[in-house]
Amino acid sequence: MTTKVLMVCLGNICRSPLAEGIMRKHTNKQDFLIDSCGTSNYHQGAAPDPRSISIAAQHNIDISKQRARQLTPADIDVFDYILVMDEENLSNALALCTSAAQLDKIALITNASEIYAPRIPDPYYGGIDGFTHVYELLHDCCKNWLKKHAK
Ligand code: 4NP
Repeated sequence: MTTKVLMVCLGNICRSPLAEGIMRKHTNKQDFLIDSCGTSNYHQGAAPDPRSISIAAQHNIDISKQRARQLTPADIDVFDYILVMDEENLSNALALCTSAAQLDKIALITNASEIYAPRIPDPYYGGIDGFTHVYELLHDCCKNWLKKHAK
C-alpha cells in the first residue's frame, strides 16, 4: 500500500516545497505519495520562492513545477501523515480536525530530527542563509522520518 505524506507550512512556497522535493528524492512512487500545501492561501497557485528553487537545485532537486495550494479538511482524511514545520502550522492544522483519528495524523516534522530542532524556522523575510539552514534541517528530519517509516 502507498503511504500518503503531506508536508505543510504557512505559504507553501518556501519550506514545504523543499520538504516535498527532499521526500520525493528519497522515496519511490510505489511506496510513497508525497505532496505539500500551506495553511494559508496567501500564495495560491504560485511557484516556489526562487530561493527555495535555487537551494533545491544545488542538491539536484527540481521543485520549480510545484504550485502552492491551501490545506483542506479533506486532506486530513486522504493523507496518512501530515507533517508540519512549526507550532503555528500545528495549531492551524489541528483546528481543521473533526476526529481523534485525524488529530493522530498531524505531527511536527522536527520530532523526527536527530539534532535538537524545535521547529523549521520561517525563512521568508530573511536572507539566503536561512534557506540553507532550512534545507539542512529538513534533510535531517526527512531522512530520519523515512528511516522510521521505511518499507
Ligand atoms: P513558507 O514561508 O510558509 O515556508 O512557505 C512563508 C511564505 C510566505 C509568507 C510567510 C511564510 N507570507 O507571509 O507571505
